[in-house]
Amino acid sequence: MKVTTTISETREQIREWKKEGLTIGLVPTMGYLHEGHASLIEKCRQENDRVVVSVFVNPTQFGPNEDLEDYPRDFGRDSALCESIGADLIFHPEPEEMYDHACAFVNIHTLSENLCGKTRPIHFKGVCTVVAKLFNIVQPDNAYFGQKDAQQLAIIKKMVKDLNFDIRIVGCPIVREADGLAKSSRNTYLNEEERKAALCLHRAVLAGQEAISAGCESAQVLRAMEQVIEAEPLAKIDYISIVDALTMQPVEKVDRDVLTAMAVYIGKTRLIDNFSYEVGI
Ligand code: PAJ
Repeated sequence: MKVTTTISETREQIREWKKEGLTIGLVPTMGYLHEGHASLIEKCRQENDRVVVSVFVNPTQFGPNEDLEDYPRDFGRDSALCESIGADLIFHPEPEEMYDHACAFVNIHTLSENLCGKTRPIHFKGVCTVVAKLFNIVQPDNAYFGQKDAQQLAIIKKMVKDLNFDIRIVGCPIVREADGLAKSSRNTYLNEEERKAALCLHRAVLAGQEAISAGCESAQVLRAMEQVIEAEPLAKIDYISIVDALTMQPVEKVDRDVLTAMAVYIGKTRLIDNFSYEVGI
């Protein structure tokens, strides 16, 4: 497995692989890898001749009061995990390599304005910009993203369509801890008490799924979920919302494919979770 830190050496390797006619898969990450990331890398390994993982804590997707400085990092552990799954290349640039006095950014309207976009207004501009840059550097045939960040996945799919990237975007299911908590690099911020409290997100997902299956309208589904979170003293709701799966606009009735998504503060840590529901027409 090779590790590159510059765009030029990454491009050189990609050129060689392309000359040999090999297919390339990309898994973009911010590192501190866990089984959620591993599931993406494994899927990528199954479907491509060469597997590229990017490990880059992208400063442009963090707001001024967010956790850029504190975001956990452990490149030694990350590279060991990538190697064990059979990745071929890790691209691990410094911020200066990716953003050399950059003035061009990729912005996406509408889809980025609800849900996480409300509390994190610059977040998806940063995500789209870095992912577009990674796509241009690595030129993958396939790129892998988790449904854990469902709004991000919908946004990347729309960006790829609107900007005509010739890349297949593959969405991968949420990987959870045995007790239901969605795996996240940010779970490391939780103390023992908060870790227990964080289970309310999964309980709310289960309550929401049950209410939707019972044919409830959005307001009732949301109420059922809110009650679960409100019963947990350490939890504070940022948002819980039911949106159209493609446009990310709120819906009153579950009469199309929807995404039910939430962000909840457990102490100071903001956690997200979600589930999709397909009406199957
Ligand atoms: P990061 O949070 O490191 O996540 C990298 C990828 O792993 C994302 O596609 C995310 O959805 C997926 N992932 C994280 N936890 C998961 C879980 N429990 N189950 C399944 N997939 C999971 O998302 C980012 O980084 C960044 O925004 C990035 C796309 C790399 C751009 O900087």
